[in-house]
Amino acid sequence: MQIYKRKVFFRISLPLLFSSHILSFSQEKCLPLHPKVKKGMYDINKIREDFPILSREVYGKPLVYLDNAATTQKPLCVLDAMRDEYLNVNANVHRGVHYLSQQATDLHEAAREKVREFINAKKIEEIVFTRGTTEAINLVASSFCESQMQEGDEVIVTEMEHHSNIVSWQLQAMKRGIIVKHIPIKDDGTLMIHPTPNPSPDRGGEFSGLEDFITHRTKLISVAHVSNVLGTVNPVDVIVKIAHEHGIPVLVDGAQSAPHFKVDVQAMDCDFFAFSGHKMYGPTGIGVLYGKEEWLEKLPPYQGGGEMIDKVTWEKTTFERLPFKFEAGTPDYVATHGLAKAIEYIDSIGFEAIQQHEQELTCYCMEQLQSIDGIKIYGPQVPLLQEGLGEVSKDAVVSFNVGNIHHLDMGTLLDRLGIAVRTGHHCAQPLMDRLGISGTVRASFALYNTKEEIDTLVAGIRRVAQMF
Ligand SMILES: Cc1ncc(COP(=O)(O)O)c(C=O)c1O
Repeated sequence: MQIYKRKVFFRISLPLLFSSHILSFSQEKCLPLHPKVKKGMYDINKIREDFPILSREVYGKPLVYLDNAATTQKPLCVLDAMRDEYLNVNANVHRGVHYLSQQATDLHEAAREKVREFINAKKIEEIVFTRGTTEAINLVASSFCESQMQEGDEVIVTEMEHHSNIVSWQLQAMKRGIIVKHIPIKDDGTLMIHPTPNPSPDRGGEFSGLEDFITHRTKLISVAHVSNVLGTVNPVDVIVKIAHEHGIPVLVDGAQSAPHFKVDVQAMDCDFFAFSGHKMYGPTGIGVLYGKEEWLEKLPPYQGGGEMIDKVTWEKTTFERLPFKFEAGTPDYVATHGLAKAIEYIDSIGFEAIQQHEQELTCYCMEQLQSIDGIKIYGPQVPLLQEGLGEVSKDAVVSFNVGNIHHLDMGTLLDRLGIAVRTGHHCAQPLMDRLGISGTVRASFALYNTKEEIDTLVAGIRRVAQMF
């Protein structure tokens, strides 16, 4: 406790006293407005220079990287910032009274503020650093079920979830006898809940069907914002509204939304929101759980160890305040700094330009793929704007199969042409069962992809198809 008090003191005082030192060690590469962005459009070739890996070759062919839903490449500003921190600042955070520890702590806590601002959370206490989306969901599943659920209580997920939003709950079902239910999908890859013809304006559009799944035993709804297989953008704000009318909190899995469009957790009013740094140009091993303060206060710690305690005795241990209660052990403070730089990079381009670019790519890819004989594209089809919702219904992910060609064969042969796509079940086996397939080929886009790369993909698929 004594050290922690010092830590708080220095956190407040040092930036004021030595701010010039703190800012001077790092060469800033992320500018407030990316110089390549003009009037919401950007010069893609210049943007690609920020990602040197994109100009490498594989098998003697230029790399076409279309596996961004799995992980994105990292811009130089992120890599430089992390290297700078290890070179010049490295020390454990929160516990040292010495200069380096204070500097590292300042960077780590500045990253928390950057994340807060990124998703528009009310307070930094609501931002918990985790290893990624998976750990964030497991944290809620474990702590929420332990404190808020009894045997026979229900959690509702959807048929399009990533395994991390299924198995985390199933583990709790095995331990505590809770029941995991799911909302099925329609053939078009959207949830089996329907916009009502004349929605009342104060509910922002009503969805019939969701209530069919809710019972008095429903304690939480946990839903992907964007499907990592179908690209479907789920109407999470409406789900949240209806859930709240029944007193049920909602967790939104934002792994595939946070990289692509502006998320505002206060506007969405979700109770928990989880995302991963590595899918949004940041480092691996760092992610975020946002939780409304009132919920995080109610939940017990997830793991025990250093940092998360207030006082430890053999008789009784008390816990730290938020968000430290959920951050046991040494955090990946270099990765949090890297994540902050990734957010700065995104901000410097702006989501308006990013979303416009990625939507054009998704549209173009869908159009081009549809001209291939025997192709089956899964999930929402073009046009991308779903009428009545005023929202994008498919985002930056296109999954498909061609005739009887196995997805693994297609992916392996595309790889030989320098094209990196993902194949398989994409950690969504229940969704594959629903679609009656073992897997798909998935192309997924990031802010640095080009129409030329999609042309290369389409030409590659045609070439592979001719071989069968
Ligand atoms: C929708 C969705 N949820 C969760 C995850 C898990 O993310 P991570 O492996 O970064 O924890 C992924 C990863 O692909 C995902 O796409």
